[in-house]
Amino acid sequence: MDINNRISEIGVVPVIKLSNPQRDAAPLAKALTEGGVPVAEVTFRAAGADEAIRIMRETCPDMLVGAGTVLTMEQVDKAIAAGAQFIVTPGFDPELVAYCCEKNIPIYPGCTTPTDYHAALKFGLKVLKFFPAEQSGGLAKIKAMSAPFPMFKVMPTGGISLKNLKEYISCPVICACGGSYMVTADLIENGKWDEIIDLCKKSVEIVKEARNG
Ligand code: 3PG
Repeated sequence: MDINNRISEIGVVPVIKLSNPQRDAAPLAKALTEGGVPVAEVTFRAAGADEAIRIMRETCPDMLVGAGTVLTMEQVDKAIAAGAQFIVTPGFDPELVAYCCEKNIPIYPGCTTPTDYHAALKFGLKVLKFFPAEQSGGLAKIKAMSAPFPMFKVMPTGGISLKNLKEYISCPVICACGGSYMVTADLIENGKWDEIIDLCKKSVEIVKEARNG
């Protein structure tokens, strides 16, 4: 199964920022896997993101681990060297997109405007990150954008939680929702792995309900 399909099947993508990858990356990978959410977008906003990616992939080889908040080609290289399986960028940078396409690694650039979508179309991308989702017009904007651009699926991130996950994931344009609500700094810093497992399970339940009902 390709990476787009695997992400879509899981339905939620935890956005992870680790201050202590040596301590937290392995237990976090196990908790996400146990919770039924074996995927992570590890943000380069924290130093040591590549180390976190490497540890998560080694700990849970079946897990899908990507790099987030990627801003430079050097970070793309670092992420790939660490074993990242996809790249996420906050905005649309044509050079970075071209670089990832050349390297054959899936890239989900942040797109929220018709201009962004036009640019993404030129690269033949199929899945876009819609970021920051709530702040950019949320579900109403995602639906409006899908009228002229029905070829894209989107991964909204920013302001999504258990409260609005069902509303978002019920929209057929949306293949998965990103968020940090199940992997907050408090949960990670305090090693609340059981709570993380629980939040993942609840998310999976919501995705199932939305898709079956
Ligand atoms: C991201 O980096 O993609 C977002 O900041 C995550 O947004 P959230 O914290 O509102 O889920």
